[in-house]
Amino acid sequence: MPIQVDVAARRARACKAFMAQVHSTTAKEGITPSTLHALKLKLVALAKRSDLFPLADFAMPQAHGRSHPLLVEEDDGHGLYLSISLPGKEAAPHDHGIWCANAAISGRERHVFYRRTDDGKKVGSAEIVKVGEVVIEPGTGMVMADHDIHSTVVIGDRPAVGLALYGYALARFPSVTWFHPEFTSVRATPSRRHAA
Ligand SMILES: [Fe+2]
Repeated sequence: MPIQVDVAARRARACKAFMAQVHSTTAKEGITPSTLHALKLKLVALAKRSDLFPLADFAMPQAHGRSHPLLVEEDDGHGLYLSISLPGKEAAPHDHGIWCANAAISGRERHVFYRRTDDGKKVGSAEIVKVGEVVIEPGTGMVMADHDIHSTVVIGDRPAVGLALYGYALARFPSVTWFHPEFTSVRATPSRRHAA
């Protein structure tokens, strides 16, 4: 069997086993701070198996970033992706509306976390304050609950390659809320919950 086919088959098996662990972790307790933490540790462990994720198997983004599906469940299931973000790529503070976990395979990405401090009553306006930051590099990861807010930037001169697990597949993502703290403004993308 050619080596590449073998890697793809081993990767598919590992992703399937990982997703089975995700479900057995959340089956009893659901999504809680402690199960999210457990999911992050499992995702970090999978990302450490870098032989399963040779870059030759994943096309580089043409610009900014690209997400390659590894295992996308049907209906309201989860999505596991390999994401590649080019050096300098950044994302303004945003709330995915759904939990997610990230773990690095190579490269480095800084995540800054925020908390919303206004009451949400003024349409189009929001105030957020920074509450922490972390650099995700090989051997590390992060997890966010449904309405946590983060911003990201790839640091250094190499692409940031990592695994991303989302509570919903990207094709069925809820509305993402984007914050622009310097203008105290906020806007939301349309939900894709019923698109696919
Ligand atoms: Fe994000």
